[in-house]
Amino acid sequence: MTRSKVVELLNNGNAGDSVTVYGWVRTKRGNKQINFVALNDGSTINNLQVVVDMEKADEAVMKKVTTGAAVAVSGTLTESQGSGQNIELNGESIEVLGEANPEKYPLQPKRHSLEFLREIAHLRMRTNLFGSISRLRHAMIFAVHEFFNSKGFINVHTPIITASDAEGAGEMFRVTTLDAKNPPLTEEGEIDWKQDFFGKATNLTVSGQLEGELAAMAMGEIYTFGPTFRAENSNTTRHLSEFWMIEPEMAFYDIVDNMDLAEEFLKYLIKYALDNCMDDLKFLSQRLQQEEKNKPQAERSMELIEKLEFVLANDFVRLTYTEAINILENSKPNKKKKFQYPVEGFGTDLQSEHERYLVEKHFKKPVILTDYPASIKAFYMKENEDGKTVRAMDILFPGIGEIVGGSQREENLDVLEAKMDKMGVPKEEMSWYLDTRRFGSAVHSGFGLGFERLMLFVSGMTNIRDVIPFPRAPKQAEF
Ligand code: 4AD
Ligand code: MG
Repeated sequence: MTRSKVVELLNNGNAGDSVTVYGWVRTKRGNKQINFVALNDGSTINNLQVVVDMEKADEAVMKKVTTGAAVAVSGTLTESQGSGQNIELNGESIEVLGEANPEKYPLQPKRHSLEFLREIAHLRMRTNLFGSISRLRHAMIFAVHEFFNSKGFINVHTPIITASDAEGAGEMFRVTTLDAKNPPLTEEGEIDWKQDFFGKATNLTVSGQLEGELAAMAMGEIYTFGPTFRAENSNTTRHLSEFWMIEPEMAFYDIVDNMDLAEEFLKYLIKYALDNCMDDLKFLSQRLQQEEKNKPQAERSMELIEKLEFVLANDFVRLTYTEAINILENSKPNKKKKFQYPVEGFGTDLQSEHERYLVEKHFKKPVILTDYPASIKAFYMKENEDGKTVRAMDILFPGIGEIVGGSQREENLDVLEAKMDKMGVPKEEMSWYLDTRRFGSAVHSGFGLGFERLMLFVSGMTNIRDVIPFPRAPKQAEF
C-alpha cells in the first residue's frame, strides 16, 4: 500500500478507500471503547481524524500514541460524523514509529507563547501556526519564480562571498580563514588581507544588485533571489541579520517602469496567496484576531484577508520624498512632538514611525516614495536634474514600513565616478562594475523586495523572527 498525504485524503478521499498515512499525533482523546487521534503530516493545516476501536486495538501500542509521536496508520476512510471534516480514517492498524515522551516533549496541545516557540524553533514547525507560515513561505517563493518566469526574466545566482559593499553602509560580516589570534600583519601593522584565503578582504553579500546589473546589461531582464547578510545592530521586529531578498534588474527600464513592475509584482504575490493558501490564511487571520482581541478597537489591524484584498483593489499612492516631508512636518504627531525622531525638513532620513504614519494614518494605502535626497541614498542611484535628489523609490506598506527599496541606476560613467569619489566608494576595485557604463551603457533600473517583510505582511505576523524558520539576529544564531 502506498502512502497518502493528509491533504489528499481530506480533499479527494472517498469513503471505502483503503489507505495508509504517516504523520505526527497532535492530540488523542476518547474513552475505553473509542479513541480519536488527530493526525498531521505537514501537508495541510487540517488534521485527519483517526478513529480507533479500543476493543480491537493493542493497548500497549495505543499508550504510546501521544502528542508528538510519529505513527503510521492503515485503515478505511469513512464519512465523518462531526469532526469538522468530511472524511475520517478508521484506524485498523497503528504502528508507532517514534515515541514522544509526554513528560519531556515540549509541545503540548495548548497555547504556547511566540517567545517560548522561538526558543524551540527546532520543533515549532510542528505547531499549527508555524506549519501555516512554512507552507505560505513556500507558496510565496514559488510565486516569485512563477511571476518572473512568466515575464521572461532570467534567474541569476549572484555570489554570496564578495569583496564589495553594494549598499556602501559598511554593515558586513567578514569572511576569513586567518587566525583570529595571530593574523599576518603588514609593515604598517594592519591585518594583511593579501594573505587571506581569497587574497583580499571578503565578506558576506548585503545585496546581489551589483552583479545583477552586470547580468541585466547582457540578458535584459533578470532577477536574483538569495540570502543577504547585514551586520547592523538593529534589534527590531523588522530586521534580521540574514534575510532573503528578491532583486530584479531591468535594462531599458526607467523609474516609472520600475515602480509599475514592483506594484504588479507585489499584487501578484498577494493574489497568489489568496488563490492558493486560503486554509492557512484563515487560520492566520483567526490567530491575529485572537491576539488583538484585548486591544482597543482603534489599535486593531484590519482583518488579514480583507487587508490583502484591499491592497489588491487599490493603486499604490505615488509621491515624492519632498511632498512626504511636507505632509509629515505638518502632521499632528510632529507638531505635538510625538515622533521619537522629529521631521526637520529636506534631508531628514525617514524612520519607520514616519513611514507608518504616511501609510497607516495619512493615505491608508501602500505608498511609493520617490526622489529622495542623494545624501541619504546609495551611490548607484540616478541623479535628478536638480542635482539634489536621486531617482530612488521605496515602497511602504501598512504595519511594515519599507518593504521594497529600489531605483533607476546612474548609467552615465562620469556622473557615477564623480559620485563614487564623493562618497568614498573605491573606483579601482569596482572597475568591473563601471565597465557596464563604459561599454554599451543604457538606462536601467531595479529594486529589492525583502522576502521576510513580505511574509510579515501576508501572514499578519508581527515579529520578523517568526516568518523565517531559523532566525539570525544580534546574539542569536541557535539551530
Ligand atoms: O533598501 P535595501 O537596503 O536595498 C538594497 O539592498 C538594494 N540593493 C535593492 C535593489 O535595488 N536591488 O534593501 C531592500 C529591502 C528593504 O526594502 C527591506 O524590505 C529588506 O530589503 N531589508 C531587510 N529585511 C530584513 N532585515 C533587514 N535587516 C533588512 N534590510 C533590508
Ligand atoms: Mg532601503
